[in-house]
Amino acid sequence: MEIKKIAVLGAGQMGNGIAHVCAQAGYEVKMRDIEQQFLDKGMATIKKNLERGLKKGKITQNEIDAILGRITPVLELEEAVKDADLVIEAIPEIVKLKLTTWTEVDRLTPAHAILASNTSSISITQMAAVTQRPERFIGMHFFNPVPVMGLVEIIKGQATADETVEMIREVSQKLGKETVLVNEAPGFAVNRLLVPAINEAIFAIQEGVATVEDMDKAIKLGLNWPMGPLTLADFVGLDTLLYISDYFVDEFKDSKYRAPALLRKMVRAGWVGRKAGKGFYDYSGNTPKPLRF
Ligand code: CAA
Repeated sequence: MEIKKIAVLGAGQMGNGIAHVCAQAGYEVKMRDIEQQFLDKGMATIKKNLERGLKKGKITQNEIDAILGRITPVLELEEAVKDADLVIEAIPEIVKLKLTTWTEVDRLTPAHAILASNTSSISITQMAAVTQRPERFIGMHFFNPVPVMGLVEIIKGQATADETVEMIREVSQKLGKETVLVNEAPGFAVNRLLVPAINEAIFAIQEGVATVEDMDKAIKLGLNWPMGPLTLADFVGLDTLLYISDYFVDEFKDSKYRAPALLRKMVRAGWVGRKAGKGFYDYSGNTPKPLRF
């Protein structure tokens, strides 16, 4: 089977990035979300990100038009998946929502299609089990910003067939990404390390070890990270970090993964990072301003 048509579920931060790289690699893409405003925002983001390369001569206007022409925004789930060879899901990290969506998608999608979730922590095996094709269900975990980051974590659930892994490895390579194969475990490989590391930085802020800007500076210059951990926390979204931390505690039954109280308090206040205009930094001005704790 050759994969030609891809349905991307969700037009948010991850979904529009995935649709972008799939269309850029030549696939026909349907990007689905539940409201027109989310689709419009997703398409505008893809256009803006493609145009970054225009001034630098890395891409032409004709190429941009062709890529955008390969993406069809759709509201109806059936319309999105009915002729797809691959469905990549990037909807909110809510277990119940994922399970009901996958039950529907499985019913509406051709039998040959592969179903892939971009979840950053939820069990692939649990989602595969609500479909009639667990051997063709897999984790395909992208990183933000999707057009820039070079990795796809491929996650094999309990029933995922080796053939499915190989097909997803091939698609990922066509998208210009390197892959790693991870056996299912909470947080897979990257978030298993990233989330406790960011949480430790937040514990240190909570204890007054350093200011937000000094902690970021220390890790940026001392470890050569492209962003300090608190800038990265705002970039990923504090709500996502809290969700993953709580999920880790539930799954591992180990308190070493617990979320710092400060993280929980900030999420309760709605200060969830860049997307909210406020997190460890205030983004209302021209340059991000660190908060004092
Ligand atoms: N779309 C397309 N291109 C983008 C982009 C986007 N959203 N954001 C940046 N770029 C491009 C820029 O145009 C620029 O391209 P050129 O090299 O051709 O000039 C290049 O990327 C570098 O961008 P900038 O010069 O603007 O800025 P930078 O050098 O500071 O890089 C960054 C920005 C790539 C985001 C960098 O800071 C970085 O790598 N940060 C870490 C990101 C990270 O760790 N992501 C993983 C988060 S965890 C996750 O996603 C998984 C999870 O489950 C939680």
